[in-house]
Amino acid sequence: MTVKEHFDSMDYGLAPESAAEALDWITARDGAFGLYINGAMTAPGELFKSRNPATGEVLAQVTQASADDVDVAVIAARKAQKSWGALPGHARAKYLYALARLVQKHSRLFAVLESMDNGKPIRESRDIDVPLVARHFYYHAGMAQLQDAELPDREALGVCGQIIPWNFPLLMLAWKIAPAIAMGNTVVLKPAEYTSLTALLFAQICDEAGLPNGVVNIVTGDGRVGEAIVTHEDIDKIAFTGSTNVGRQIRRATAGSGKSLTLELGGKSPYIVFDDADLDSAVEGLVDAIWFNQGQVCCAGSRLIVQEGIADRFYAKLKARMGKLRIGDPLDKSIDVGAVVDPIQHQRITDMVNASAGEGELYQAPCPLPDQGCFYPPTLITGLSSASTLMQEEIFGPVLAATTFRTPSEAVEIANNTRYGLAASVWSENVNLTLDVAPKLVAGVVWVNGTNMFDAAAGFGGVRESGFGREGGWEGLQAYTKPRGKAVSLKPIAPVSAPKDAKVDALDRTAKFYVGGKQARPDGGYSQAVWAKSGALLGHVGIANRKDIRNAVEAATAASGWAKTTSHARAQILYYIGENLSARADEFAARIDAMTGGRSGAKEVDAAISRLFTYAAWADKFDGAAKPVPMRGVALAMNEPVGVIGGFCPDEAPLLGLVSLMAPAIAMGNRVVLAASQPYPLAATDFYQVLETSDLPGGVVNIVTGDHATLAAPLAGHLGVDAVWSHTGADISATVELESAGNLKRSWINNAKARDWMGAAGEGREFLSHATEVKTVWVPYGE
Ligand code: NAI
Repeated sequence: MTVKEHFDSMDYGLAPESAAEALDWITARDGAFGLYINGAMTAPGELFKSRNPATGEVLAQVTQASADDVDVAVIAARKAQKSWGALPGHARAKYLYALARLVQKHSRLFAVLESMDNGKPIRESRDIDVPLVARHFYYHAGMAQLQDAELPDREALGVCGQIIPWNFPLLMLAWKIAPAIAMGNTVVLKPAEYTSLTALLFAQICDEAGLPNGVVNIVTGDGRVGEAIVTHEDIDKIAFTGSTNVGRQIRRATAGSGKSLTLELGGKSPYIVFDDADLDSAVEGLVDAIWFNQGQVCCAGSRLIVQEGIADRFYAKLKARMGKLRIGDPLDKSIDVGAVVDPIQHQRITDMVNASAGEGELYQAPCPLPDQGCFYPPTLITGLSSASTLMQEEIFGPVLAATTFRTPSEAVEIANNTRYGLAASVWSENVNLTLDVAPKLVAGVVWVNGTNMFDAAAGFGGVRESGFGREGGWEGLQAYTKPRGKAVSLKPIAPVSAPKDAKVDALDRTAKFYVGGKQARPDGGYSQAVWAKSGALLGHVGIANRKDIRNAVEAATAASGWAKTTSHARAQILYYIGENLSARADEFAARIDAMTGGRSGAKEVDAAISRLFTYAAWADKFDGAAKPVPMRGVALAMNEPVGVIGGFCPDEAPLLGLVSLMAPAIAMGNRVVLAASQPYPLAATDFYQVLETSDLPGGVVNIVTGDHATLAAPLAGHLGVDAVWSHTGADISATVELESAGNLKRSWINNAKARDWMGAAGEGREFLSHATEVKTVWVPYGE
C-alpha cells in the first residue's frame, strides 16, 4: 500500500509483534517444562499441552503435578520459611526490588509469552499486565521494608498455597506472591492449566534474583493439583482467585482445618450511565469495561444499566463504536480484541448466549473474525430484565447485557440485584450524584467515570459471593499476616452443675432473649438453670433454636438504618451504654462473681465500661485513606460496615467478652446477633436491660442464649448473615466455616488462641478490621 492509499483508507494495517524470542525461550527448554521446586526445575513429568488459543498450535508441554510433587513443594516451602520469615524486612525488600527490576528487564518477553498463551492483545499485556506486575513487586518491596517498623505486632502466616486463574496469569501471580513473600511467608503457587508459561518464566527470574531456595515454588496442572494444595495439612493459608463454584468448594474443603483463606471470585459488575454522563467517554469506558481481555475479567462491567431517556442514543453510539472494534491476532498491536483463552471457554460463552436466545435484542460487532482460533465477537444484548440469566450469571466473555432505569434509586436497586459484589462503575458529570451512589453500591470497588483501574496501593476484592479479603494496599497485608504470638487452644468451660440438694425457687427468674429491641421467649420452650458455684440457683435462661436465630437475624436485617447513622451518633450511644453500665456496676460484678465463683467481677465490669469507651472513641476515628495511586485523582479507601454479624461470645468473660464483640461491630455500623457465654449467660441477659435504657435502636443488638454447637449451623448458614465471629470455647470452627460457604460470608475463628480479654489483645484494630469492609472508590480528577 502507498502512503496515499493509507491516508485514503485510514486503515490501521498490520503491526505484528514478533513471536520469535518467546518461541526461542520455549525451544531452549525443549518445549517441555517440569515444576519449580526448592529453587530448581524438576524433570518434566506427566505432560499436557499448552496451546495458543489464537491459532490452536501447541506452544509447550507442561507437567501435571502429582500430590507427591505438591508435598515436596510444601516441604521445601516449610523449610525455607523459617529463615525467610526471620530475615529483617530490608533483606526481603531487596529481593522484591530485584524481582521488580527483572520483570521490567524481561518485560517484552513476558508480554509476548502472555499474549501467546492466553490470547490477550499484546497492547494489554505490554501496557497493562506487565507494568502492573512490576508495580506490585515495587510496592511490596516497600511493604517488606516498612514491616518491622509499621507492623511490629504482626507476623507471617507461614506457608501459603496460592491458586490462580487464567485471565491475568502473570498479574494474578504477582498479586499473590508479592505480598506473601514480602511479609515473610513462602509459597506454593499453581497457575491455571491453560496458562502456565509466564509463571515458569517467573520461576527463572526468581533464580536470577537469587531468591533463597523454596521461597517460591510453582506447581503446574489442573484442578486436581489445586485440590492437593487445598487439602495439604502443612499449609497455613490458601489464597484463591477463580470461579465462585470452586471458591465455595475450597471454603468447604478447608473448613475446620485452621487454614486462613481469602477468596477473590466472580462478579457481574454494574456499569451505570446517568443521562448527564459524557456519553462518548462512557462508551469508551465500556470498551474497556467489557472488551478488555475479551471480557474475561472478574470485575468486567458486564451489566450495562443506562438511564431510559438516553438509552437509544447511547446504544446507537455504542454500536457505532463496536463497528470499529478490530478483532484478531493478539500479537497484532493494532487489534482491540484478541482470542478467548480456550475452546472450552469459547463453547461456554456460546452456550450461555444461545441458551438465552430470544431474550432481549442481540447485536454483534460486524468486524470479521479470523478463520481459525477462539474468537468470539463483541456482543451487546439490550432490553433484558434485571432477573434475566444473562444479567445474573457471569458469562466471562465479551458479552454485554443491558437494561434501563429511570431514577437513581432504581439504578442502585438494579445494580445491587445480584449475588455478587465485586466492582461497579458510575458515570455522570454530576459528582454529587456519583458520590451519592457510590456508597450505596454493594461492591468492593467503585470507579467514578472510569473502569478497570487497578493499583498495588489500592485494595481490590469483593463482598457477597465475590469472596472476601482484599489484595493490595495496607489492607491486603492482613491476608498474609497474623497477630504475633503463640496460639494456645481455648478450652470450653463447663457450666456449674446443679447441686445434689437443689431446691426449686418459687420466684420465676427466667431471662428471655433480646430480639428486635424486645424481650422474646424461646421458640422451643426450653430453658436451662444457671447455678452459682455456691449452690444457689441464679436463674434460668432460654435455649435458642433455629427459629430464634431466624427471628434475631430478621430483626438485625430490619435495623439496617443503623449503618446510616453518623459515627458521632454511634459514639454517643456507646458512651451512654457505658454510663448506664457503670450505674449498675456493683450488681453486674456480683452477678459475675456468683456465676464464676471468682472475685474478678468488679475488674471485669470496669474493663467492659472502658471497652465501651474505647469503641465510642474509635467510632469516628477508624478512618479510611486516600490512596496515592499513580493517576491524577484519588482512590478512597472507605471503611464500611460488613452488615449483620453473628457472634459466639467467649465462655470465660461473660460480660466483657460480649461487650468486646458487640462494641466494635456496632461502632462501625453493623448489627449483631450474639450467642452469650454458654456457661455464664446471665451477664448477657442482664446487659440487655442496660441496652434498653441507652437509646440503642431495636434490632441493632440481638442476644440469645443456648448451646453454641447447636446454634453454629443455623447462624453461620443463615443467608442474611454477612460474617460470623467465633470466640467460644466450643469447637465450632468446622461447622461455622462449612456453613458459611452458602453465601460465602466472612468468618473469624478465634478458638485456637486464648485471648486476654482484660488486656490490649481484647480490643483494637484487629476487631475493627473484622467489623469493616474496605470499599475503594476511584475518583479521577479528569485531565
Ligand atoms: P476455575 O475456578 O475452575 O479455575 C481457577 C483455578 O482453580 C485454576 O487454577 C484451576 O486449575 C483451579 N481449580 C479448579 N478446580 C479446583 C479445585 N477443586 N480445587 C482447587 N483448585 C481448583 O475456573 P475455570 O473452570 O477455568 O473457569 C470457569 C468459569 O469460572 C469461567 O467461565 C468464569 O465464569 C469463572 N472464572 C472466574 C474468574 C475470576 O477471576 N473471577 C477466573 C477464572 C474463571
